[in-house]
Amino acid sequence: MSGTVVVGTQWGDEGKGKITDLLARDADVVVRYQGGHNAGHTLVVEGETFALQLVPSGVLYPHVTPVIGNGVVVDPRVLIAELDMLTAKGVDCSRLVVSGNAHLIMPYHQQLDALHERHLGKAKLGTTKRGIGPAYADKAMRTGLRVQDLLDPPIFREKLEMALEHTNQVLTRVFNRLPVEVDAVIDEYLGTCAPRLAPHIGDSVDVVHAALEADREVLFEGAQATFLDLDQGTYPFVTSSNPVAGGACTGAGVGPRHIDRVIGIAKAYVTRVGSGPFPTELFDEVGDHLVDVGHEYGTNTGRRRRTGWFDAVMLRHAVRVNSLTEVAITKLDVLDALPRLRVCVAYEHEGRRYEHVPYHQSVMHHATPVYADLEGWQCDLTGVTDPADLPAAAAAYLDFLEDQIGVPVRLVGVGPGRAQILHRT
Ligand code: GDP
Ligand code: IMO
Ligand code: MG
Repeated sequence: MSGTVVVGTQWGDEGKGKITDLLARDADVVVRYQGGHNAGHTLVVEGETFALQLVPSGVLYPHVTPVIGNGVVVDPRVLIAELDMLTAKGVDCSRLVVSGNAHLIMPYHQQLDALHERHLGKAKLGTTKRGIGPAYADKAMRTGLRVQDLLDPPIFREKLEMALEHTNQVLTRVFNRLPVEVDAVIDEYLGTCAPRLAPHIGDSVDVVHAALEADREVLFEGAQATFLDLDQGTYPFVTSSNPVAGGACTGAGVGPRHIDRVIGIAKAYVTRVGSGPFPTELFDEVGDHLVDVGHEYGTNTGRRRRTGWFDAVMLRHAVRVNSLTEVAITKLDVLDALPRLRVCVAYEHEGRRYEHVPYHQSVMHHATPVYADLEGWQCDLTGVTDPADLPAAAAAYLDFLEDQIGVPVRLVGVGPGRAQILHRT
């Protein structure tokens, strides 16, 4: 039995989809374990681009069983649209298994997400407004509806009526909005969505364990990232789930002993969408350059991503909280044209030096990065296929990152395509 977790180490969009797709070649089951359609995972295969939100990135391989685990929050309308999109592109989605224990994102979750953000005003989190936070809140309140409820109309109605007793009070009395009509939701979810998704609903824990027991490879695909983790991230500027590797245990139903490899995905620089601290953020033309060359606009919401230098302090924290066994550095090619590169090796705040991420929010907000300066390579890496052919400055940059992070950099992305990856030994 063998389990590998792919986990984001920064603030998301590190290229988890691309690396999952790459590793899925040798996997039997690929499981999404948390998050929802706040994720946007891009795969580029033979010139064709696939933007996935809920379906695991292994779906392109006919030998892979893609699984949406119990820890995911599923908007059935979005899942159906994604299945339609994939089917239209010739991808067979019939093997997809959706956990009956995954929670449903309801239309009112999306509405509440937007209302909470408006209510926060300048203090808004910059969520994706997909209803993720309110859906996980209902799960924790034990008023959530689950995917299995789609298969049981009387139970679905009973649970929905109970949930709306409270939610409609909030919508009408707190936010001055119209109440949600039970029948409208029932029509859409039971009338339209349930028949379509029923063949996919199943026991995801059994699928995962059957594969592990048969000595097959299971890949756990994280969404979001370590610093968006509800517990380990830059709270409150985080998502509402646990993207860290431990989330694979709760979100897919396995114990830690089933995981023997944890691959942290990191961009060769850092990006963030939405609000929150970002010590190495750039506000100059280098930041604009990274946005332009790296196409740093959200796959999902189209928002411009904030950009900054690589932050080794963050990566050291990611190594700790995920038990990373190795790291994949993506988008190295985006740095191609820059003559000088910087890497943050520590923070300083009020005369104190921090080699590790400070636990206190105020320190993180006001930390000043301590930089090491490195040479750029100023040539095109996108055609490199062997790490031995990397220019000396690029190899030195990777060696420096590896030394700072403390775990091996095994994979290096030099372009969005499936083939644009270097395997370092
Ligand atoms: P995810 O959310 O972690 O899966 O990442 P996204 O798909 O949201 O964002 C990563 C973007 O970078 C996508 O557009 C990928 O196609 C692209 N990408 C991934 N790896 C590389 C790389 O090594 N070089 C370049 N130039 N683009 C990459
Ligand atoms: P992938 O899987 C980047 C960010 C949002 C916001 C915060 C909370 O593609 O890396 P939420 O809607 O989750 O309540 O928003 O988290 N965020 C992401 N940023 N990549 C993602 O997913 C993200 N998913 C959520 O921008 O700051
Ligand atoms: Mg993304």
